Amino acid sequence: MVSLDICLSGIYDVNKFINTSSVFSSMNGVQQPEKFPSGFFWGTAVSAHQVDGGNMYNNWWEWEQVEGRIDQNDRSGDACDQWSRYEEDFSLLSQLNQNSYRFSMEWSRIFPKKGELDKLVIEHYHQFLDALKKRKIEPFVTLHHFTEPQWLNRLGGIERRQNLPYFKDFVNLVAREYSEDIIYWNTINEPNIRAALGFFLGVHPPGKTGVYNYLKALRNLLRMHAEAYYILKTENSQNLVGVVKNINLFEPYNSQSRIDRMIAWVLDEGMNSNTLRGIRTGKLPLSVVREYKNLQGSSDFLGLNYYNRNFCSRKFEGFFKNHSDDADPTKLCTGLNWEAYPEGLYLSIKRLWEDFKLPIYITENGIGTTDDNWRKEFLVNHLIQIQKASREGIPIKGYFHWTLLDNFEWAEGYASKFGIVECDRKTLKRKIKESGHLYAQIAKENQLPMKNNDE
Ligand code: FCB
Repeated sequence: MVSLDICLSGIYDVNKFINTSSVFSSMNGVQQPEKFPSGFFWGTAVSAHQVDGGNMYNNWWEWEQVEGRIDQNDRSGDACDQWSRYEEDFSLLSQLNQNSYRFSMEWSRIFPKKGELDKLVIEHYHQFLDALKKRKIEPFVTLHHFTEPQWLNRLGGIERRQNLPYFKDFVNLVAREYSEDIIYWNTINEPNIRAALGFFLGVHPPGKTGVYNYLKALRNLLRMHAEAYYILKTENSQNLVGVVKNINLFEPYNSQSRIDRMIAWVLDEGMNSNTLRGIRTGKLPLSVVREYKNLQGSSDFLGLNYYNRNFCSRKFEGFFKNHSDDADPTKLCTGLNWEAYPEGLYLSIKRLWEDFKLPIYITENGIGTTDDNWRKEFLVNHLIQIQKASREGIPIKGYFHWTLLDNFEWAEGYASKFGIVECDRKTLKRKIKESGHLYAQIAKENQLPMKNNDE
């Protein structure tokens, strides 16, 4: 008799992590791994500054030059040089059976100076998109992924509302230029995280701190999102446009403690609910009356980035910590200390679905680790949560693993290795990891892999 099991090269005990019975459906008495929905998008996600290299006109480039800001004083430099090696990388995508790719277009490259377009860059992105099309890989394009042009910062950056028209110029241009080749648009990547790291904690540019700056930046990012949505839908009503929201789960450290519960509520409100509510109702965060035109209902789908959860208590610095007391330190995400919590992906999907009743794409999910077996386990355990939610009828349309290549992980520099493909720091040579091969097999079969025990 053929017995089927999830195959993860027998490296770890899947039963410890997975309720295997839930992943199989019975067909004519034979257990089959459940298929993902047909037409499911299998991809990886990257952002321009983290992989392209030579991004010298944006605020991150400037930020990195100051010692002490980036782990090991790393600088993005050539990154993975995807700017010139995209043909090679897209061939890798084909080898990995990917039918989609999420990347960002770099505003500061298209407009290196205020009001000045770089025609070569416009052409470059045409070729880039052609190279994907040739391989039947669907582009998912992000318009803003953490970076802004240096010239914009000199004019007061995104925290200055008067600068909004510059973003609209950029979006108008790409909408006109590339609408024929792009259907799926992500407006802003993680507005709350961009605002929190750059304007509340001050660990990303421009290094500002405090609630007031956070709210100012967040509101403007939501205005940018709303304007981008409006422009793209006006350009072509067939465009599918959505925000990318990171769901950071906040739980009370001690569920019996009213204070812990209250802290969890406040952090969730500030980092999740305010933005989701904003997009649903048009109300900007922390404002009872002020609505922003075009914000209400400004998403055709939701992009969900999911990594981890946090435990909240007043005894922790910043009122939360991102792993449990008994977390295995060897399994935490390098540099960021995130603890894997796959069920949180299911909970986040449910939350978005209940709030919006819109299709969901998992636009990021992954782990920074040098233990590639652990990455495989992480991958499967999260995909199982997607199947669980799909089984309940929630339309989850794609999964973009973060990330394709080991790349520049912002303030963590190059130490945090999220890639399913290794990118040698000296030679920039690419090498598919075991996790990459596993992901390729899953994408090809549109199901989790199985093992024939008789073999
Ligand atoms: C997300 C960012 C992405 C990457 C991952 C690890 O918050 O969107 O660029 O840094 O975290």
